[in-house]
Amino acid sequence: MIFYFSGTGNSLYAARHLAKATQDRLISIPEEMSDPAFSKEYALSTDERIGFVFPIHSWGPPEIVLRFIRRIRFANYQNHYCFFVATCGDDMGCTQQILKQALSGIHINLHAGFSLIMPNTYIALPGFDVDSPEVQKRKLEDAVPELERMESDVCRKTNTFRLHPGGMPRLKSYLILPLFRKFLINDKYFQTTDQCIACGKCAQICPTNNIRIENKRPVWQGHCTACLACYHVCPQRAVYFFAKKNKGQYLHPDLLKYGKEHH
Ligand SMILES: Cc1cc2nc3c(=O)[nH]c(=O)nc-3n(C[C@H](O)[C@H](O)[C@H](O)COP(=O)(O)O)c2cc1C
Repeated sequence: MIFYFSGTGNSLYAARHLAKATQDRLISIPEEMSDPAFSKEYALSTDERIGFVFPIHSWGPPEIVLRFIRRIRFANYQNHYCFFVATCGDDMGCTQQILKQALSGIHINLHAGFSLIMPNTYIALPGFDVDSPEVQKRKLEDAVPELERMESDVCRKTNTFRLHPGGMPRLKSYLILPLFRKFLINDKYFQTTDQCIACGKCAQICPTNNIRIENKRPVWQGHCTACLACYHVCPQRAVYFFAKKNKGQYLHPDLLKYGKEHH
């Protein structure tokens, strides 16, 4: 079974590819977590793999992924093959170590891990923006053979780690990430301009159903993951975070085609 979380579609694309190659079940983490009292035991068949696919959020796994791991158990677990794929714009810091520690809390061993470079979606802080159209195109093209390599490893259950930790990974994952979680995973910074036409696309795309349209305006409900999908989907470019700035938008080209049921 492959558990996934995705905001703007990059990780969903990777998860769907992997599930097709391995014939594994695809399970949406936010859908499972929609019940606040969520806690579940998943039954594993003999040769089944356990996979986690998610985007990197500030050099670590999104908090929702770690919360999910703390609330699950596996029946019939006997050192089943467990892997992760983290999609990122550039680098992932110490994500492997953070995930390994979370999994050890539920007595699961990690056998393989991969980072997949995809178009960047982080735009909220000064100095960050989406990639140029040329870079987006190149990243999407390069991701295809990289995904095929991962699929081959995962199908053969190899013990492989092919990762992009980047420079100063400990500083990024153990100092900046906690600050990001404390101060920047907060939907009170989202606002809309008068350009908003209450089309509801932000509410539709939000993976955690955190947006309601009230009085013809989106209202964030306080359980945001900071995936920024609401910002990127807005056809009016009316959603902004902190301050209005001219930043680009990006959604994985397949996302709207998949529809809500797999988000
Ligand atoms: C809040 C946030 C933080 C991010 N932090 C990082 C990061 O630390 N390193 C990186 O390479 N990319 C970072 N990114 C980019 C995403 O990891 C990347 O674009 C990912 O593929 C998006 O996946 P998704 O479309 O499945 O949501 C960040 C994106 C967001 C929204």
